[in-house]
Amino acid sequence: MKDLIARLPKAELHLHIEGSFEPGLLFEIARRNRVALPYDTIEELRNAYKFLNLQEFLDIYYQGMKALLEEEDYFDLTRAYLDRCAADNVTHVEIFFDPQGHTGRGVPFEVVVKGILAGLEDGERRHGITWRLIMSFLRHLSEEDGFATLKEAEPWLDRFTGVGLDSSESGNPPMKFARLFARCRAMGLLLCCHAGEEGPPDYVREALEIGIDRIDHGNRALEDPELVREIVRRGLTLTVCPLSNTALGVIERMAESPVGRMLEAGLSVTVNSDDPAYFGGYMNANFEAVAAGLGLSEGDIVQLARNSFTGSFLPEAEKARRCAAVEAARMG
Ligand code: ADE
Ligand code: ZN
Repeated sequence: MKDLIARLPKAELHLHIEGSFEPGLLFEIARRNRVALPYDTIEELRNAYKFLNLQEFLDIYYQGMKALLEEEDYFDLTRAYLDRCAADNVTHVEIFFDPQGHTGRGVPFEVVVKGILAGLEDGERRHGITWRLIMSFLRHLSEEDGFATLKEAEPWLDRFTGVGLDSSESGNPPMKFARLFARCRAMGLLLCCHAGEEGPPDYVREALEIGIDRIDHGNRALEDPELVREIVRRGLTLTVCPLSNTALGVIERMAESPVGRMLEAGLSVTVNSDDPAYFGGYMNANFEAVAAGLGLSEGDIVQLARNSFTGSFLPEAEKARRCAAVEAARMG
């Protein structure tokens, strides 16, 4: 199984670039930027990565981001992530970044975007990894703040495939951002939304009403059979994150991962790493953990790899080519 997982080409569709900030690189960048950290050693920082829920993680995630100040920092962060992708045979990535987590600290929008784009282009050159960049809004902030960020993003919009919605889900339903998402749609951006990670099935329903193109997590949609049928009917892909779910207490053990029930329900489910530096594993580790926890078959693993490409924002002809590559790799 481990061999098959490593051998298959895969796309990662749910990854926060700031969540790939490994403690070693975090210390190195904090030192060169003279940013003080509340931890003396890498080990101490790692020991702080114990979370009871999403908010406890987010507090540490936003703290970690504070080390990032210069274009070079964003470049190094992105480069390191793509090196890990290459090692896991991830051949296409669609990554989120949280501009408000940086501009809110005084880092100019263009510093963030230039660094990430340079890192993505570098990774494409060195590893042949194709990519899409998705600008994510922080849902604990106001819709007005989101509109201001969209304004700042205007010169860069042709470099972004879509927008997302992340951060503290409870109390911040998708409808809070209905006008912002309508504007983004009118501007030709695709729409993603974290929903049903901690929030109720109604939040997933709202995300559908807003007209989203992909659901991030979507775990709790399974509590509502009618909603599941609607997601199948629309052919929407869900980006599930197994190690994230256990690390944040969204599920108690891997045997409860929604991946199995989603496959059975005929949903287009994918496996992703979310914030791998914080949750203990990149793509292959997520595939291995969920395969072991649920007792998935080789056929299931191949289906998940295929879904990662069919659920991507690549053009249809390219999706077909990538699926053919999955089939070829399956044979070994
Ligand atoms: N930001 C980074 N990771 C996230 C997650 N799993 N849920 C919501 N917001 C996030
Ligand atoms: Zn996420």
